[in-house]
Amino acid sequence: MTTKELARLATQVENGAALPADLPVGEGLIVGITGPPGAGKSTLVDALTAEFRAHGKRIAIVAVDPSSRSTGGAILGDRIRMQRHHADEGVFIRSMATRGAAGGLARTSMALSHLFRGAGFDFVFVETVGVGQDEVDIAAHADVTVVVLVPGMGDDVQAIKAGVMEIADIFAINKADRRGAEQTEREIEAMLSLGTAHVPIFRTVATSGTGVAELAEALAGRKRREWRPDAEWAIDHLGIAVRSLDEALPFYEVQLGMPAAARETVEHEKVRVAMIPVGASRIELLEPLDDDSPIAKFLAKRGPGLHHVALRVSDLNAVAARLRDSGARLIGEPRQGAGGHTYVFVHPGSAGGVLWELIRI
Ligand code: CO
Repeated sequence: MTTKELARLATQVENGAALPADLPVGEGLIVGITGPPGAGKSTLVDALTAEFRAHGKRIAIVAVDPSSRSTGGAILGDRIRMQRHHADEGVFIRSMATRGAAGGLARTSMALSHLFRGAGFDFVFVETVGVGQDEVDIAAHADVTVVVLVPGMGDDVQAIKAGVMEIADIFAINKADRRGAEQTEREIEAMLSLGTAHVPIFRTVATSGTGVAELAEALAGRKRREWRPDAEWAIDHLGIAVRSLDEALPFYEVQLGMPAAARETVEHEKVRVAMIPVGASRIELLEPLDDDSPIAKFLAKRGPGLHHVALRVSDLNAVAARLRDSGARLIGEPRQGAGGHTYVFVHPGSAGGVLWELIRI
């Protein structure tokens, strides 16, 4: 894949397109780099990039700015950075400086990092700007997450959102030549002693390269995140296409004695839905709102009957990314349903002829 082709694909993915079905999974490591503004994350990523390039590794960088507040700084920094690596085919940089990415920044940044890993990059850095929920979501899906802090933060170490501290696989105290590096390290250690996992702490000075080789070595020793479905998975519901809820419901409500718990209209799917609880599971009856509805098309082609099976998963985004990684075709992207749940459909062509809905309640 040429750089030009990759750039074009990246733009399509940013605009909501699925990853190419024939994209290899790739061998690279997705590294989340997060921490408060001013910690020198970009400089540290640049220093790591130089270190890995010296060892012939190919590097992709996804720079994510979830806020609308910072524009000038991030973009200016990116320009300087892009100029520096401009002639280097072994470095690919994509920055997302605005909101409005189709399906959310976490999804888009992870889809991009899977694209780059699939394109053969050895390390994909996903660098965020702040410490909000977006950053936590993004970093939580990386193989390894480095939380970058700086000395002299004082009580700020505690003030940094707990979520950010919890996702750390590695801490880097950057600008460690400043006063207070030891104290910051003690503060992190004190905080870590409350948990069980061993999280290494590195001191770096990204501008001079001090400690960068050690951090790079630690990253190189990391493995891709293990994947396993967990015990919370369950069949959530069966989706059944009907011509009319009023005609279909008496079988369930009267003949079987299973009352529907709720009826609702889902405008964007163009369906009217009746949910019938069955133990821990449910039956979802789907009536088309109009002829354009996917359910209307299903009825015209196949007649009434079983339309999809919904699998409840605990981490929908990770499951969706995993499926995409392995070449499965998702229909659209995970989206918000009427009841506040998130869902996405897997194309029957990728799933043995069954339309699977993945759902997170
Ligand atoms: Co459903």
